[in-house]
Amino acid sequence: MSMSFSGQVALVTGGGAGIGRATALVFAGEGLKVVVADLDAVGGEETVGQIRAAGGEALFIACDVTCEDQVRQLHEHLVAAYGRLDYAFNNAGIEIEQGKLA
Ligand SMILES: NC(=O)c1ccc[n+]([C@@H]2O[C@H](COP(=O)([O-])OP(=O)(O)OC[C@H]3O[C@@H](n4cnc5c(N)ncnc54)[C@H](O)[C@@H]3O)[C@@H](O)[C@H]2O)c1
Repeated sequence: MSMSFSGQVALVTGGGAGIGRATALVFAGEGLKVVVADLDAVGGEETVGQIRAAGGEALFIACDVTCEDQVRQLHEHLVAAYGRLDYAFNNAGIEIEQGKLA
């Protein structure tokens, strides 16, 4: 069975490195528009650059997932940009002993 994700939108938190970046690249390769959220703007923009260089569509939004206001602004920003959110990979902040995941 093949599925088309064309036109759908995925959020990847912690998308600026590691597992998040790898997932963002795979999502984009499957046709999803990817919102890359991360504390690290350099890493996040690098992920977006790699997606665009491969012909995909992506947007970086800076966000600390332990900050409720920033998470709210992230969702407002991505809905303003793409009008929808279909999938969320809440990858950042699994080790939350140092703070709460908003
Ligand atoms: N790599 C592993 O073996 C492994 C195993 C179990 C769980 N995990 C968890 O999976 C997640 C990703 O792991 P990884 O190895 O890719 O980590 P990584 O350190 O390579 O990447 C994590 C990314 O998340 C970003 N980030 C960190 N805190 C953030 C915050 N508060 N808000 C937004 N972005 C934030 C970092 O800037 C970085 O770009 C982590 O939560 C980690 O605890 C990883």
